[in-house]
Amino acid sequence: MEKEAAKIHIEQLREELNYHNHKYYVENSPEISDQEFDHKMRELMNLEKQFPEFEDPDSPSMRVGSDLNKEFEQVVHKYPMLSLSNTYSEEELQDFHNRVVKAVGNDFRYVCELKYDGTAIGLTYQNGKLIRAVTRGDGTQGDDVTQNVRTIRSIPLKLTGDYPGEFEIRGEIFLPLKGFQWLNAEKEKAGEAPFANPRNAAAGSLKLQNSSLVAKRPLDTYLYYMLSEELPTMSHYENLLKAKSWGLKISPHTQVCNSIDEVFEFIRHWDTARHELPFEIDGAVIKVDNIHLQQELGFTAKSPRWAIAYKFKAEEARTRLLSVDYQVGRTGAVTPVANLEPVQLAGTTVKRASLHNADVISGLGLHCNDLVTVEKGGEIIPKITGVVKEERPEKSLPIHFIKECPECGAPLMRVEGEAAHYCPNSASCPPQIKGKLEHFISRRAMNIDGLGAETINLLYTKGLVNTLPDLYKLKASQLITLERLGDKSARNIITSIKNSLEVPWPRVLYALGIRFVGETVAKKLAASFASIDKLSGATEEELIAVDEIGNKIAGSILAFFTSEANKKMIEELKSYGLQLAGKEETSISKASNILEGKTLVISGKFSRYSRDQLKEMIETHGGKNTGSVTGKTDYLVAGENMGPSKLEKAEKQGVKILSENQFLELIGEE
Ligand code: IVH
Repeated sequence: MEKEAAKIHIEQLREELNYHNHKYYVENSPEISDQEFDHKMRELMNLEKQFPEFEDPDSPSMRVGSDLNKEFEQVVHKYPMLSLSNTYSEEELQDFHNRVVKAVGNDFRYVCELKYDGTAIGLTYQNGKLIRAVTRGDGTQGDDVTQNVRTIRSIPLKLTGDYPGEFEIRGEIFLPLKGFQWLNAEKEKAGEAPFANPRNAAAGSLKLQNSSLVAKRPLDTYLYYMLSEELPTMSHYENLLKAKSWGLKISPHTQVCNSIDEVFEFIRHWDTARHELPFEIDGAVIKVDNIHLQQELGFTAKSPRWAIAYKFKAEEARTRLLSVDYQVGRTGAVTPVANLEPVQLAGTTVKRASLHNADVISGLGLHCNDLVTVEKGGEIIPKITGVVKEERPEKSLPIHFIKECPECGAPLMRVEGEAAHYCPNSASCPPQIKGKLEHFISRRAMNIDGLGAETINLLYTKGLVNTLPDLYKLKASQLITLERLGDKSARNIITSIKNSLEVPWPRVLYALGIRFVGETVAKKLAASFASIDKLSGATEEELIAVDEIGNKIAGSILAFFTSEANKKMIEELKSYGLQLAGKEETSISKASNILEGKTLVISGKFSRYSRDQLKEMIETHGGKNTGSVTGKTDYLVAGENMGPSKLEKAEKQGVKILSENQFLELIGEE
């Protein structure tokens, strides 16, 4: 194709794809099939590849994300990002209304909106292009998550129509319920902990370092607050309609109310109708529509006086406690779970509720067959919030936490100051063994494909695998004898086990499943102790000297390495060739000790080195790099465009400020 023709065709495809994206993601009324859409997208991507001179970061093809890992820049909000004050009853809402009337009189209307349960975002558009997306952060400054937000299909990268030259629009990014269930199912498949609720899932997704992973999550948005020096109108509602006409996603459930009684109707309606929505809301937001009046009413330090949130009560139901089960996890922690007479709550049938630990049971004063109230809070598993003592059956006995492990009979232990009871029999308590094996093979640990909880259970019950090293003794011929495993899957499992010998030391350490040693702690430990021998020989003092390691973690590590069974297991794992030491090139070789004992913060953009390179330099010269300026910071290495508040804070605290060159001079790399 001729260059000129290609240019025209590319532009046409981009326009068409933007249009269909809008129809699909914003208006929910697609005009073409998914296949047709994909076909056009592929055509565009091919052309863009062929003619890279027409590349455009705003092209709809760029919404697949990038693989680049980067840390988020802090951006100061042009307008502080305040929150709302909450009300929980119609009386409180009436009080709010009375205050407003007292201040501005009677002649105004409200706009009622849903209170979306996600994570707040501020989008800045300049000349119709999305230039920045920033999280709430501390309200003054937030994380620049533009790259991630660009992958959300319902957020247009380009607007159409009579938009102002520059404006910000705020809204909520959330994960619809279906997307949430899908994401948690994926997480479970990968052996990862599920998100507790859609809000955490949305916030967690925006903070992912890899935007191509964000692109895979079906995040959505509703925008609800426009800010600009050149607002199109002085009505909040009219501004939202304007925003809609430019292509921004505005909720169809927003409603103008001419009296407080209409507001009450709105909240009563949504208190029940919310269960039919495909996403979660936790209340309604009531705003004075007229922006002149909003300005007259103004703000308190934390929230506007012209708006308020009305929070719905968490739904509650009453039901009988049937019995209490005790579940033993991989670390031996015993969790009590209540079995309940099935009851309908917030659209689902509830049969079980977590009781967390012995203190919760005694705090509730729970007796057998009690009538209890259950509530679905922000978590997936409902909780018991109270006991209806008047309805207690006669002579029913109080529930006492068990004294022995329900799985292996070992007497339970409770460490001073900790809430949980533990089964100490880690070597032969079945759920602990199986749990440890499941953790070991999970994706973020040894990533052994093809082995799931079911196969682990089979291997364990058939007596083929009892300890972690046993996995490395397995032969394909043994696997084939198991039900449901064909020749090919058996061979794949063996290959995957072999491949796990390449998993690097920090992940192997995490895979061992030492209590309190999660991924981050494992990385920190592996960076300070180059091998398992160094780690197992470390004293409590040496362990605590590592960043983020306190007494609790240190105690758990010491206990792990004191156990004879664990010592034997590690020797066996060594003999199979697992990476129980860091490879030379990955462990940090010290260039100097110039920065020993010094804490540095890096902020802004640099011209000679990337932030990651500078961070590495700090470490190789013995210093410590942290994220925010505190009284303990020695130097702030300041680049271009860094947040003024960070600079101000550094100046106030007397922190020395270095330019990139001054820093390089200091460490002798200049
Ligand atoms: S307006 C100055 N409208 O609730 C007013 N907020 O507790 C700014 N939220 O941080 C907020 N739905 O994340 C507004 N329709 C809505 C909302 C909403 C959810 C969130 C938002 C805010 C928090 C305040």
